[in-house]
Amino acid sequence: MKQRPVALILAAGKGTRFKSRLIKILHPLLGRAMISHVLAMVRSLGIKDIIVVVGYQKNRVMEALKEENVQFVIQEEQLGTAHAVMAARAQLESLAHRDLLIINGDLPILRAESLQPLIDYHQREENALTFVTSIMDNPYGFGRVVEVSSGKYRVIEEREASPEEKKIKQANVGIYVFRIKDLLEALPQVKNDNSKGEYYLTDLIEILSFRGKKVRPFALPESEEIVGVNDRFELAQAIRLLQERKNRSLCLKGVTLLDPGSIWVEMEVEIEPDTVIWPGVILTGRTKIGSGCQIESFSVIRDSILGDNVHILPSSVIEGSYLENDTRVGPFSHLRPGTRLHRGARVGNFVEMKKTDFGPESKALHLSYLGDSKVGQRVNIGAGTITCNYDGLKKHETVIEDEVFVGSGTQLVAPVKVGQGAYIGAGSTITKNVSPEALAVARSRQIEKKGWAKRRKKKKD
Ligand code: UD1
Ligand code: CA
Repeated sequence: MKQRPVALILAAGKGTRFKSRLIKILHPLLGRAMISHVLAMVRSLGIKDIIVVVGYQKNRVMEALKEENVQFVIQEEQLGTAHAVMAARAQLESLAHRDLLIINGDLPILRAESLQPLIDYHQREENALTFVTSIMDNPYGFGRVVEVSSGKYRVIEEREASPEEKKIKQANVGIYVFRIKDLLEALPQVKNDNSKGEYYLTDLIEILSFRGKKVRPFALPESEEIVGVNDRFELAQAIRLLQERKNRSLCLKGVTLLDPGSIWVEMEVEIEPDTVIWPGVILTGRTKIGSGCQIESFSVIRDSILGDNVHILPSSVIEGSYLENDTRVGPFSHLRPGTRLHRGARVGNFVEMKKTDFGPESKALHLSYLGDSKVGQRVNIGAGTITCNYDGLKKHETVIEDEVFVGSGTQLVAPVKVGQGAYIGAGSTITKNVSPEALAVARSRQIEKKGWAKRRKKKKD
């Protein structure tokens, strides 16, 4: 088998039609930058050597891709697609015996299965250049393919095409496989004497043809896959298509999606079989969900891990948290980063937790805030319990040991510790540690003035 090609990804242009402060290829689709979709596709073709041409917002692009293990070349000024390839000349010199796949960074929905035949064909035929074409209903904006004589081709750009040439339906898609040696030999012949004053990569089709090299078109059916994402409407359509693919793969794995059109599940999210996702659920980042879970409507789960048989009731927000098996959360709960619910724990209506380790089978079912807390097993947190964890300068910890009963409306002024099995009377403001097995009541005693209301009424009369 021939060696896999090297890939060169063109990503120096701004993407003007996006009308964005951010370079087009860094816009995310389902939580992954547009260009990272292209990189993932290229990798699944078995390609390991990847060069990315950067220019506009190059530092942002290089920062965003710093963990992608690619080589960058910088094209300071964007003087055309051939000029972008020239920027990689030094890197390509040392790879002269290899093939080069050139592809734009704005093809996030292109699948490896669609490109594999291109590479196979190029290598089997030992072409010098294979360029992808497609017969399009409306090829407006694309270069048009002209067969000058048998086996000799030329691509004419839209803006240079004559009215006759504009009628040609065979478009140059902008994806190429070159034999690097031939590419490097011909590159210096590319001139910028055209209407844009740019160095056109498409000129190499003609140059190599007339040098007697084997240049061949490779036709792919017209589809969104091979047409770049050029504006934000096309971005929206690409996102929808990726979501459909993601949903499909989840369903085929055994996940039930009750209303696939209404959910948002990002690329990296993993879900195990027999979990049910209700309408309107949003799952983002590196979220992992076990099997047998119910994720009910309008819940948002970000960068969190859920075990098996976890039940999320509607409208809960869970971020950076770890929920063990058999836990139950919501409705209307907010779990913030650093929260861990141990097996069988339950968190209910309007409860917020942050950096809280909440023990097995413990319950906080109503209107509470637990921050920077460590809670043991089988603890009952009464309605309206609040950890006062912040003194205006620093955060302090609250420790509640196993089997504690915290009465409703309790404030725990941290740092504070409640010993194992202790009870706290409702409405207490706990400022000192509570001993194990003790009852702590920390509220002012109730007084009663007999007949007070009656006397008040009389005064008024
Ligand atoms: C190019 C082709 C055209 C084809 C079309 C398909 C040329 C001359 N024309 O036209 O035949 O139908 O693609 O989409 O190649 N880029 C750089 N540096 C530059 C210029 C461009 O990195 O100096 C990058 C852009 O970021 C973009 C890609 O190259 O990703 C294509 O450039 P663009 O200017 O969009 O080419 P088209 O005019 O679309
Ligand atoms: Ca383009």
